Amino acid sequence: MRLVLLGPPGAGKGTQAVRLADRFGIPQISTGDILREHVQENTMLGIRARTFMDRGEYVPDQLVVEMVTERLGEPDAEKGFILDGFPRTVRQAESLEGALTAAARPLSAVLMFAIDDEMAIRRLSGRWTCPVCKRTYNMEFKPPVQEGICDFDGSELERRADDDELTVRRRIEVYREQTAPLERFYRERGLLREVDAQAPEDEVTERTIALLDELEDA
Ligand code: AP5
Repeated sequence: MRLVLLGPPGAGKGTQAVRLADRFGIPQISTGDILREHVQENTMLGIRARTFMDRGEYVPDQLVVEMVTERLGEPDAEKGFILDGFPRTVRQAESLEGALTAAARPLSAVLMFAIDDEMAIRRLSGRWTCPVCKRTYNMEFKPPVQEGICDFDGSELERRADDDELTVRRRIEVYREQTAPLERFYRERGLLREVDAQAPEDEVTERTIALLDELEDA
């Protein structure tokens, strides 16, 4: 199974990607997580990426494409992968298509998680993330058992630097300008499947798995 998860900030791509990765035994590849690791480790890529990320803008295509191409070449991605947050521009989508076609490993499907802006803002203003296992929590929708602590590994939860309301609004605008055109790109290729992501987490997971099971049976 080779999947791309599309959807605006806060749609639940990361949340669902972790669950789907567990369910199908394939890695979640989140460009946001990889970039944040580079920022934390102060690598050259991290230093360049940070200026864009802090403003809610996209990191230049070339940097991200190289990073993903390298990651897709790792052994755990051989049996499949879930791309979470990549591609995000038509140029990234074309590069991915070229690389996967050359390797005779086409995408199985592109899942489009749809939510409205106000729900996205509500979700992101309540988000806390575990820096170790990357699980996300939400003060309104899914609080951890003990405030500020990850239920799974006991790490201290963190807020993301780009989750303040102004930056979230800018991220949504950038998504509309640069990523929304990918819906058409993938619809034309017969790969796009829409999931209503306004529903509670478990319901979204059930709908997504049902959809993927249907695709596997087809
Ligand atoms: P990235 O980390 O990918 O951020 P994003 O796309 O803005 O998406 P989010 O992680 O904010 O949202 P999500 O949809 O994953 O939601 P989540 O599951 O966490 O990218 C960050 C930045 O990196 C970009 O702005 C850019 O600068 C750069 N970047 C990354 N990829 C790039 C690329 N390809 N090209 C260029 N630049 C790139 O859920 C959100 C909250 O809602 C959580 O609290 C969660 O618990 C809660 N929640 C989730 N689902 C539900 C539900 N169904 N009901 C109730 N609550 C829910």
